[in-house]
Parts: sequence; structure tokens; C-alpha cells
Amino acid sequence: FTAEIDAMDIEKGTYPHFMLKEIDEQPFVMRKIIQEYQDEQDNIKLDSNIRQAMMDTDRVYIIAAGTSYHAGLVGKQFIEKIANVPVEVHIASEFSYNMPLLSEKPLFVFISQSGETADSRSVLVRIKELGHPALTITNVPGSTLSREANYTLHLHAGPEIAVASTKAYTAQIAVLAILAVDTAKAKGLDLEFDPLKELGIAASVMESLTDQKEAFEKIAKEYFSETRNAFFIGRGMDYFVVQEAALKLKEISYIQAEGFAGGELKHGTIALIEDGTPVVALSTQENVNYSIRGNVQEVAARGANTCIISLEGLEQESDTFVLPHVHDLLTPLVSVVPMQLLAYYAALHRDCDVDKPRNLAKSVTVE
Ligand code: G6P
Repeated sequence: FTAEIDAMDIEKGTYPHFMLKEIDEQPFVMRKIIQEYQDEQDNIKLDSNIRQAMMDTDRVYIIAAGTSYHAGLVGKQFIEKIANVPVEVHIASEFSYNMPLLSEKPLFVFISQSGETADSRSVLVRIKELGHPALTITNVPGSTLSREANYTLHLHAGPEIAVASTKAYTAQIAVLAILAVDTAKAKGLDLEFDPLKELGIAASVMESLTDQKEAFEKIAKEYFSETRNAFFIGRGMDYFVVQEAALKLKEISYIQAEGFAGGELKHGTIALIEDGTPVVALSTQENVNYSIRGNVQEVAARGANTCIISLEGLEQESDTFVLPHVHDLLTPLVSVVPMQLLAYYAALHRDCDVDKPRNLAKSVTVE
């Protein structure tokens, strides 16, 4: 593993912060993942034991914390929609003392950048006692969660130094997509989705977004330089990404931020909207494009300062930013990039310590 770490990986180089460097590295990480998970015939290359474990299980239990949990929410969609295997996603610290009823043949998938998160490890210890198999998806193959699980999938993201996770999140999503497609192929399911090709397209789109930093700096300044709170809304896949967007913003800028399901707003949260409250809406899914725009109108009518980030083909003239088109399922890979940059520039404008936010640790090894 150490051989893979090149000196540049742990230096900031010309970057002012590791976080910005790591955001920029995401297209390279996507390409590295494609390379690592592709064989000479351009097929998916994956440990056959993992393939078998995915074939044998009747339900996948994803266990994770923080940003990795948010990647798990996206991964559930892949595994259910592409591979047709039911998935539950659990916050590690909750699962430990509130274990759900397990299926007959569960497979546990631990998602962890560091592979050292104590909350996840305590679940691993518990399920091993019960005799259930475990797969760890991690950036650190020699880590505790990797050593103690039956199988490991490597993220190949290179060291992530900034406390706020960015490239590990997109790497987790990419590897989960590959795992889902591999399972679907092993099960002989019909697929119109070539994950390695689509990941390549996503990588290019990510690159075009990281090349437009000034646009996101401007949006961050306009929406987040003065405010005490902010809301992010989305539906379906976008709901998972806005939860990550809110986490990024609160972690490094200390703005009280929440990610909500668009349709749930009217059931309580809308009471918090005042004149000027920033509300960022994400709309990358055709089936909910209309309804999320309805939610934007509802908050705008109550004075919110709204910002819409949409996808090419679904955009309207007043949208703040339009993302280039990528495959429906892979939109989180690209829609999260503006969110990461918004959080970064918001923190910068507010003079916060971007790489080492207060009260947070990169890896939490206590329960
Ligand atoms: C800490 C970090 C988060 C991270 C979480 C899970 O709280 O500050 O950025 O998402 O742990 O870490 P893991 O290494 O298990 O992905």
C-alpha cells in the first residue's frame, strides 16, 4: 500500500488547502478506479469471492458513519436498482445497540475512508460473533476494518488529509456502482449501463466543474457569507447528495445547515424559512424535476434566497448553475462537486480553518 503513496499525495503543492487539492483530484481518482477495476477485455475485474458473497446474500446491510454513510445511501440505490438485491443502510453507532431483524443470509458492507472508525468496528465485531460475512470498502486496505472483514475493496483515492471528506465520498460511490454492476452481470441481469464508460464521462464532467471554481466562489459569497443557517433540498438521488452538501457546509463553515427531502419541507421545516434564508435546491432527476421546483417556489414565496443547481436537459432559464449531463444513476458524482466547492468557499470567506475544523477529527477511534 505504501508504495502507492507518492510524495505529492501528502504535500499541498501549490494548493492553499488539502481540501481544495482533494476536490480537484476527484477526476483522477475516478480514472484510477476505472484502471484498477478493469481487465484487459475492458470487463470489470473484481475478487471472485466478493462476487460470490454478493450472489449468495439475500440482503446487504451497509454500515457507515458521516460522509461514508451518505455514500452508502447512494450505494443502496445502485445495489437495489442495478443488482436487484435489497439493501439497508445503517448509521454504525445506532446499529450497535438497535440491531434490526436480520435476513437469513445477510452480507455486511462496511464503508469507511479510514477503516478505523470505532463505531463501525464495534458492529463488525458483533456480526462476526454471529458468524455473518463482511466486506469493507476502504481507502486504507491495511486498516482494522479491512483486516477484520472477510473481503476488502480498495477505493484507490490516495491519502485524504482534509478532515472534510471529498474524494473518498466520490470514490466510494464509484466502487459501489462497480460492485452493483458486477453483481448484476454475475446474476445474468440485462444491463444498459456500462459503469466504466459512464465513470469516464463523469470524470470529465467533474474536471469541467473543478475548472469553474470562480462560479462557485461567487455563489458561496452571495448565499453564505453572512447567513447563520442554510437549507439544501432535493428528492430521490438528490436528497442523498443534499445531506452530504449540508454536512460539508456545517463541518467547515459552522453554518447551521440541513439537507431535506423536498416533499417533507411542508411538514415542519418550512416554518424556519425567513426573509433571505438561503435554500439550495438540487434537481438532477427527471422524475422529480417538476416537484422539486414546486418546493423551491414554496420557499421563495416565504422569502427564501433560492439557488437551483440542475442538470442539462432539465434546466430552466433562472437556474443558478446547470451541470453537464451524466448518467442518471451517477449524478451524485458530479452534483456533489459544486456542493463541496460551495462549502469550501463559504468557509474561506468566513475565515474558518478549512482543513482542520474545530471539534472534528479525521478518524474517530472512540465510540
Ligand atoms: C469522522 C470524519 C468524517 C467521516 C467519518 C467517518 O467523523 O470527520 O469526515 O465521514 O468520521 O469516517 P470513515 O473513515 O469511517 O469514513
